[in-house]
Amino acid sequence: MRILITGGAGFIGSYLSEAYIERGEEVWAIDDLSTGSLDNIAPLLQHPRFHFVNDTILNREVLLELTGTCDVIVHLAAAVGVRLIIEEPLKSIHTNVVGTELVLEMANKFRKKTFIASTSEVYGRNSKVPLNEDDQRIYGSTVLARWSYAATKAMDEFLALAYYRTKQLPVIITRFFNTVGPRQTGRYGMVIPRFVGQALRNDPITVFGDGSQTRTFTYVGDVVKGIIALIDEPQAVGEIFNIGGEEEITIDNLASRVKAVTGSSSRIEHIPYSEAYQEGFEDMERRVPDITKIRRLVAYRNTCDVDAILAKVVEFERTRYLSSATMSWGNTTLRITWARSTGESMSISQGASSAAAHGKAKSRRCSWSSATFQAAGSSTSAAETGSSCGRWILSGGNGSALNVRRRP
Ligand SMILES: NC(=O)c1ccc[n+]([C@@H]2O[C@H](COP(=O)([O-])OP(=O)(O)OC[C@H]3O[C@@H](n4cnc5c(N)ncnc54)[C@H](O)[C@@H]3O)[C@@H](O)[C@H]2O)c1
Repeated sequence: MRILITGGAGFIGSYLSEAYIERGEEVWAIDDLSTGSLDNIAPLLQHPRFHFVNDTILNREVLLELTGTCDVIVHLAAAVGVRLIIEEPLKSIHTNVVGTELVLEMANKFRKKTFIASTSEVYGRNSKVPLNEDDQRIYGSTVLARWSYAATKAMDEFLALAYYRTKQLPVIITRFFNTVGPRQTGRYGMVIPRFVGQALRNDPITVFGDGSQTRTFTYVGDVVKGIIALIDEPQAVGEIFNIGGEEEITIDNLASRVKAVTGSSSRIEHIPYSEAYQEGFEDMERRVPDITKIRRLVAYRNTCDVDAILAKVVEFERTRYLSSATMSWGNTTLRITWARSTGESMSISQGASSAAAHGKAKSRRCSWSSATFQAAGSSTSAAETGSSCGRWILSGGNGSALNVRRRP
C-alpha cells in the first residue's frame, strides 16, 4: 500500500512514517518544514520505500500528483501550537482551512480514503469531564486569535464530513488530545518539551496561569497505533474519534515531576496568560477525553503514564543537548551561528582557556541568528543564551581547534 502523509516530517508524522515503513508499506511524506524538521526523518531518508517531498500542501500540482499515486492520505500538515497561531494568524488560517480543502478536493478526485487530524481544541472552553465526541463547542471572542486554531480545525471537520455525506468520500476524523514524546519541539508552546528544556538548563520552569489547570498526555507511539488501526477499520469511515490519555494532572504537578525527573535546580515560576500569550487569553481548566468510542471499535490502549513519557522525553533531550562540535580558531574573535532560539547554555573552551558567550537569537522561528563570542583569557567558564535545538554552525577564525559543547 502507498500512504501519503502530509506533515510527514513533523512530530506525529515522523513516527507514523516509521510505523508504516516497518509494516512494509511505501510512504510518501510531504512537508514544508515550517515546524517539522529533517532531523525527525533522518533515519528514513535513505530507505527505499520512503520518499520525502519538501513542498507545501498548498501546491496544487504536487498534491495532485501525490494523491493520484497513493492509496490512503493521512492529513497531518497544519499550523500547530497556540504561540504560532497567535503570532501568524493569517498564514495559520490559510494553511489549516485552504490546505485541508485542497487535500479533500484531491482525495475526492481520485476517491482515496482520507484521515483528517483534528484536535481537542475544537471543544474550546468546554471543561466537562470527560469530553465525548458529541459534546458542545464553546469558544471565546474572535478578537482573541487563540480561538482561530479551534475554529479552523472545526471547519476542517465540517469540510471532511460534507465530502463524506455529499460525495461519499471515505474520511476518518480524529481529535488528538495532548500527544507527546521525544522529538516534539517546545518552540510553539508545547508544555512537556518546554518544561524539560527549561529544567535541563536549570532555567525557571515557567507555568502559564496559576498552574491548577489540568491536562492528560498520550504517548505518540500509542497515538500512531490508533491512527493505523482506525485507517484499517472500515467502520471508522464517516466517524469522529477522540484519542487521548487517561491520567489527569495539573500543570503545577507536571512542572514538579519534570523537576524531579531531571534532578534540576530550576525554580517553578508562574506567568500570567496575558504576559505569556496576549491580553485576555483564555485557557481551559480541564481537558479530559472520553475514549470509549475508539476503544469499542479498535484495540486502542494507552501504554505510558506521565512518568514513563517524561522519562523518554528527558532521555531524548539530554542526548540532543550534549552534542559537540570543533572548529578552527584564529585571534580572539569567533562567530557562532545557530538555528532556532529558545535559550540554552553552552561553554567554549580551548585547552585551559575559555570564552564568554553573549548574544540572543533574533526570532523565535527557525531563522538564522548569530552572536559574537570574545575569548575571555584563561580558565573562566562561559555560558549564555543560545539555541534549543538544531545544529551549531560555526565559522570564522583560523588556527587551532576549539571545542564547543552544548550543555543542559
Ligand atoms: N501533538 C499534539 O498534541 C496534537 C494535538 C492536537 C492535534 N494535533 C494535530 O496533529 C497534526 C500533527 O501535529 P504535530 O504535533 O505532529 O505537529 P508538527 O508541527 O510537528 O506537525 C505538523 C507538520 O506539518 C508541516 N506543515 C505545516 N504547514 C504545512 C504546509 N503548508 N505544507 C506542508 N507541510 C506543512 C510542518 O512542517 C510539520 O512538520 C496537526 O494537524 C495538529 O493540528 C496534534
